[in-house]
Amino acid sequence: MSREKLYEMLRSLVEHGKAGTMEQVDEVVAIPASDYTDEDKFEQEVERIFKRVPVTVAPSCELPEPGCYKAMDIAGIPVLVTRQKDGTAQAFLNSCTHRGNPVAQGSGKATRFTCGYHGWTFKNDGDLLAIASAKDFGAVDKAAFCLTKFPTLERAGLIWATLDPDSTLDMEAFLCGYDEMLEHFGFKDWHLFDKRTLPGPNWKTAFDGYLDFYHLPVLHKDTFGADFFNQANYFAWGPHQRLSAPSIYAQKTGSEEKLDLSKMNEEDWPIEALTQGVWTIFPCVSIASFFGGGGRGAMISVLYPGKTVGESFTTQYYVMEHEPTDEAVRQGAHDQFAFLETVVAEEDYKTGKRQHESLQSGLIDKVWFGRNEGGGQAFHQWVEKLVKADDAELNRIFAPQLQAAE
Ligand code: FES
Ligand SMILES: [Fe+2]
Repeated sequence: MSREKLYEMLRSLVEHGKAGTMEQVDEVVAIPASDYTDEDKFEQEVERIFKRVPVTVAPSCELPEPGCYKAMDIAGIPVLVTRQKDGTAQAFLNSCTHRGNPVAQGSGKATRFTCGYHGWTFKNDGDLLAIASAKDFGAVDKAAFCLTKFPTLERAGLIWATLDPDSTLDMEAFLCGYDEMLEHFGFKDWHLFDKRTLPGPNWKTAFDGYLDFYHLPVLHKDTFGADFFNQANYFAWGPHQRLSAPSIYAQKTGSEEKLDLSKMNEEDWPIEALTQGVWTIFPCVSIASFFGGGGRGAMISVLYPGKTVGESFTTQYYVMEHEPTDEAVRQGAHDQFAFLETVVAEEDYKTGKRQHESLQSGLIDKVWFGRNEGGGQAFHQWVEKLVKADDAELNRIFAPQLQAAE
């Protein structure tokens, strides 16, 4: 069924491409400029979105084998993600149950973690294995001192965690069937080529840019070019949205040739055409695929809010369908990734920072999203809706039966 959906979307993109049109939403919409600058609002978004809904913590290929782990910080919460003996991924609060010191730093391979403060040791499934100088410490029930687990789900080659150990939100239902669409990339068998973390502006300012093709030929005129497309059609699965340019053209990995999809049999449409564009995962992921630059690749950008309203951090994971085996492909992938980093850091995020400073003057009361910016409109509506929802309402919004009925 999800494959048929890919065809349905591409048919509509080709039709619009032929006609030179795009899908537009009903209205031009304004949102208060303070949505981007208000500290209280920002705190609420962190509490009610990032600490309540599943957030992507890693592509599966970052932890390819049992024993792999990484420690990270998400919105002030220390998180440890491990690949356990049985191959499943698990996220934990990276905080020792003795007195709270993080038990792991960085990333690597380890089947156990010894806390650097007093030496308590945990297995990578979170069990407390040993208490240092146990006799001196006194009797405790080790089973009650496991690392705190966060609900964790691995689908479509991505790992999600809900950063509330007591969450009752159904993680699969939250994905609204979007994970089935993402499966078509086959990320679970891909290879992590490189990753890096960039500082950025307010998390919503940063995310707006991923939902927006309107700016491409203007802001990115020196990198993508001034004749780059600026239209997108949006396709939604709950709060998750794919955007893709209406066009009859597509490109295949390793070829400069432009394929005219309108002249091909549908069964010959390549997977690159069926999945092209940007796939965002609410609230903080953007996946953009690339071909050329050394093979089929994708940049998975995962952004989390920083400590203040004007800061965010984005980790860019450059993943490739095949691990490059020769130097030319490796160099091509390296150059492509360096180029994308420059585009995001020097163009998108620098602009976002300037935009934020300007909005902080308080002298602009609204910002606008056009009929061609339906993705941004939908994103802000979802943020608003989820911030307002109490826990029961949140569970209702993502109830499994409602998602199944869509
Ligand atoms: S805080 Fe970890 S052993 Fe004491
Ligand atoms: Fe951009």
